[in-house]
Amino acid sequence: MAQIALITGITGQDGSYLAEFLLAKGYEVHGVVRRSSTMNRGRIDHLQHANPSHPETSKFVLHYGDMTDSGGLNRLVKTVRPDEIYNLAAQSHVQISFDQPEYTGDADGLGTTRLLEAIRTMGLPTRFYQASTSEMFGLAPPPQNEATPFHPRSPYAVAKLYAHWMTVNYREAHHLFACSGILFNHESPRRGENFVTRKVTRGIAQILSGKSEKLRMGNLDSKRDWGHAQDYVEAMWLMLQQDEADDYVIATGVTRSVREFVEAAFSQAGLDWDRYVVLDEAYLRPSEVHELRGDPSKAEKKLGWKPKTSFAQMVHEMLENDLKLEGVDPAKHLKSVRRVPAELAAGLVVRARGDRGPRPPRSSGGSSSPGCRRHRSLGGRSRRYSRARSAAISKFSQNFSLPVSALSACISSRSSSQ
Ligand code: NAP
Ligand code: GDD
Repeated sequence: MAQIALITGITGQDGSYLAEFLLAKGYEVHGVVRRSSTMNRGRIDHLQHANPSHPETSKFVLHYGDMTDSGGLNRLVKTVRPDEIYNLAAQSHVQISFDQPEYTGDADGLGTTRLLEAIRTMGLPTRFYQASTSEMFGLAPPPQNEATPFHPRSPYAVAKLYAHWMTVNYREAHHLFACSGILFNHESPRRGENFVTRKVTRGIAQILSGKSEKLRMGNLDSKRDWGHAQDYVEAMWLMLQQDEADDYVIATGVTRSVREFVEAAFSQAGLDWDRYVVLDEAYLRPSEVHELRGDPSKAEKKLGWKPKTSFAQMVHEMLENDLKLEGVDPAKHLKSVRRVPAELAAGLVVRARGDRGPRPPRSSGGSSSPGCRRHRSLGGRSRRYSRARSAAISKFSQNFSLPVSALSACISSRSSSQ
């Protein structure tokens, strides 16, 4: 018999990828959708069309429900009797949580307890996945792993931290198979339009289509560890397939500033970001999370999970999608992206920064970093090379998914040591 999964938040970025992933594995997938005055199912329409809508026969069934409504959630768990629940539903925007702290606490925090209670009181053997977040680390310095102390910086992060500890508590107190996946930022063409990466790629598409002239942004200095959502949903599933329930950090191990993301995306589209991006204080947060960089070694070791998509590929995919949506031909504007495995790209950056992980033995050439070695010829100080150097850094940054600052730092350290 097919395994049955219940996904809350199925209309969201992750929910839609996870539903595809589970259907491909032969699961019967049930999803919770909210009633809204306009249909809000763009990310899962294709799944509905591919699956006949009779609940008795379909492998893909949607149910109305809301994380703030215990009665409805109880009924759902009772009727669906899922083997696995993936709790992805949340008011997931950090800045908006400052405007809606109580609702965010209700949906993101108490909503999780409602589901855990439903499983417990019905005595089901259901396995439970909680969508926890790197935002819970907040001010804790990177790299962050499962042992890093939490210091949340927003109502969203506080609500998620409560949900995280409830998940742990139901595992310890009531022996539920309950896992908390502490996922770092993950993006895709399906990313919500008001998260920074998608805002940038959409903004570029609108600039190229002539719809807008400027992109208004907040803090460009904060740093995030960005991966691809499609890679991350596999990790959720893997957590529920283990012999024992546990918590895992899922990340790439590489951090970049928002500015670096902006530079990379504009550069792929052949634009100079400086000419278009303007600061708008409306997008600054009352308290910011300055730097997130996850250490996914536990997930690598125990789940055998690794990110597959490189940063440059992800940015390219997002741009391609948004240009098409704006009626702009990607082939005319986007530079092609050299495909480098994400882990190789990550390794180059980590070593270039010299702040994590064992270094390979030094070669007689001096540099210990393959990234540095590859670009040694760029290290000359002569002025006549400086323009070519900047252009080359930008190009390598694109092609090899390396942040400009990491390459510059790598090259400067070579220059000063020569
Ligand atoms: P998303 O695109 O914002 O999707 C959120 C989903 O939750 C949507 O389906 C939304 O429904 C649903 N939802 C919101 N409030 C609800 C409520 N009261 N009752 C029922 N459903 C509700 O988020 P995502 O990026 O896919 O993220 C999935 C989960 O992972 C979230 O819990 C998020 O906090 C967490 N997370 C995300 C990241 C990331 O970088 N993406 C990282 C760490 C953790 P509507 O479509 O009707 O709005
Ligand atoms: N949204 C947004 N809009 N963010 C901006 C902007 C802007 O115009 N300008 C700068 N930023 C900065 C934010 O201040 C933040 O430091 C960074 O860009 C990333 O913001 P978001 O993309 O909104 O994501 P987030 O890191 O706050 O939260 C996301 O990742 C979390 C995991 O760490 C969300 O997906 C959360 O749900 C998730 O838990």
